[in-house]
Amino acid sequence: MITKEEAKKRIEKLSKELEEHNYKYYVQARPSISDYEFDMMMKELVDLEKKYPELVSADSPTQRVGGAITKEFKAVKHDYPFLSLDNSYSREDLEDFDTRVRKGVAGEIEYVCELKYDGVAIGLKYEHGKLKQAVTRGDGEQGDDVTANVKTIRSIPLTLKEKNFPDKFEIRGEIFMPHKIFEQINKEREESGDPPFANPRNSSAGTLKMQDSAEVAKRKLDCIMYVMYAKEIHFKSHYESLKEAKNWGFKVSEFVAKCRSLAEIFEFIDYWDVHRKKLPFDIDGVVIKVNSYDQQKVLGFTAKSPRWAMSYKFKAETAATILEEITYQVGRTGAITPVANLKPVHLGGTTVKRASLHNADIIEKLDVRVGDTVFVEKGGEIIPKITGVDLKKRPAQSHKTKYISKCPECGTELVRGEEEAKHYCPNEWGCPPQIKGNMSHFTSRKAMNIDSLGEETINLLYEKGFIKNIADIYELKKHKAELMKIDRLGEKSVSNLLAGIEESKNVPFERVLYALGIRHVGETLAKKLARGLQTIDAIINASEEQLTATNDIGVEVAGSIKSFFHEKKNKELIERLKNHRLQFESIHSTQSPQSTKLTGLTFVISGVFTKFSRDDLKDMIEQNGGKVVGSVSGKTSYLIAGENMGPEKLKKAEKLGVKIIDENEFEKMIK
Ligand code: IVH
Repeated sequence: MITKEEAKKRIEKLSKELEEHNYKYYVQARPSISDYEFDMMMKELVDLEKKYPELVSADSPTQRVGGAITKEFKAVKHDYPFLSLDNSYSREDLEDFDTRVRKGVAGEIEYVCELKYDGVAIGLKYEHGKLKQAVTRGDGEQGDDVTANVKTIRSIPLTLKEKNFPDKFEIRGEIFMPHKIFEQINKEREESGDPPFANPRNSSAGTLKMQDSAEVAKRKLDCIMYVMYAKEIHFKSHYESLKEAKNWGFKVSEFVAKCRSLAEIFEFIDYWDVHRKKLPFDIDGVVIKVNSYDQQKVLGFTAKSPRWAMSYKFKAETAATILEEITYQVGRTGAITPVANLKPVHLGGTTVKRASLHNADIIEKLDVRVGDTVFVEKGGEIIPKITGVDLKKRPAQSHKTKYISKCPECGTELVRGEEEAKHYCPNEWGCPPQIKGNMSHFTSRKAMNIDSLGEETINLLYEKGFIKNIADIYELKKHKAELMKIDRLGEKSVSNLLAGIEESKNVPFERVLYALGIRHVGETLAKKLARGLQTIDAIINASEEQLTATNDIGVEVAGSIKSFFHEKKNKELIERLKNHRLQFESIHSTQSPQSTKLTGLTFVISGVFTKFSRDDLKDMIEQNGGKVVGSVSGKTSYLIAGENMGPEKLKKAEKLGVKIIDENEFEKMIK
């Protein structure tokens, strides 16, 4: 058994080494050990911290996995105002900037050019080399404390390297989401019926404000630093500050250039205007800063921005072409998207034939008409968009676009909620793309995973009248003989199809719940709901308060769940699916405890665990007759402590003499 003194030393050593490997992997992209070795060291640290929870520090590498829940982000006043940058869009603007700078300060001027990252600005405060607080920009005077979420970003050091940093300083930079992660998240959102994020910037902002930091950890945000503030700084220029920040362990832009003339600045801009397309993340321009701190001081600030810096925004790539037709798409949720069908045009390396027109308001605002010459733009968005009309080229006989009032697929009168940008077709039970879309979602891999029943087969069986809703899928076996007569199917594929459908009856409840396609209930939420409320009946009968007690479920989502189950047709569908024996209860049901080993005992679970999830532990306690409560009191029998647990809870438990155990000890209790 390792003594506390020894554990302390080992924890310190492991923490230091893990942070170093983390740095090598995420900042330098040059790992020197294998993932396995890294995981083993992390496991050792987790185990030690579990044994001695009082030795867990706020900057332990174990904090990276998240687990802390923030219900409301605390407002924090900035120590230094959070300024923005003056924007320029043309070379003339930059020439004016250079002239102003040269008028303002005497002597040679050196500029630093760097990339303008398109994400969310963040201020990180460090004291004695430790990350103390991370605050968003907010309104410039005060922002939100998002420390727990920011700690999960691997490229942000929790403890600094080297020793020559000021005791107290703030460093600011941009949190952003690499393209690959962005695409993955949007795919998941579309699968759960949530509107996709328009661009990686919105996606980063949304992620940073999530309540559950373990979810943030999964989103793999990145962060690059670009400005430093401290009362006493020992270096003399911005360039040096970046170099030093890099030595302390921060990720700073590797693409910086010192420039002495406008010509050199333009060269940097031109290079990046072309090469930005190859970067794995978005930039929207270049930032030009006066390098010398002394000169910066002389130039000073306006109310909003420094006079020593200027951003140059890249023009989004645009092309002009003819709008040939506007068509309307109906999504799985009934949302209508107007689509511009264009005369094919070359834009940013691809041929564009279609562009999104978003909604009725945008069409109205731009007054786009069929036959118009329109400007198409490819910005940070995934699908190109129409940004304007060349009115000079408008044909004499053009007609104002009249937005459709009926669904193009089923003819139902469209509706539009007061706050909604989009029109919806309310005929969810009779509108073919909605029905087929719902069935495709139901059979998709992350839902019921019936891969023998993909989109094409669904279309076929729907057109032939075999399936009209998800419950019909389970009645297909009655029609085996007829199915085999369909040209495109044949005996083998029908057998496969039916076997896949049977197999899906074993899919666990949380995925069945996701498969139902309740608006806003994605994979993660379905899991939380299934684990929290255990059975479909409990979810159907849950009050709004019970629903919102689950993390990440707000009033809107609770409302969507309630209205889904309020619908008679949905109730009927669920009854039919129950009769077909799909899983409508979590396997670890609280309904009937399987043992009484823990009867009469009350547990508090805190922190993050390696073997089990918090929900697993809760299930295990309840299955054995125990009770789980949220906060430590005199009545608590045990505190099950994981990594990253709240220090307050620990203190309280120690004060009240509550027994503190880890997940292994707990496991022994019920074995
Ligand atoms: S310096 C006082 N450098 O752009 C100067 N900002 O439009 C502080 N940004 O608020 C900003 N890349 O969120 C600076 N290399 C860079 C940047 C950058 C992106 C963002 C930042 C700022 C906004 C201003």
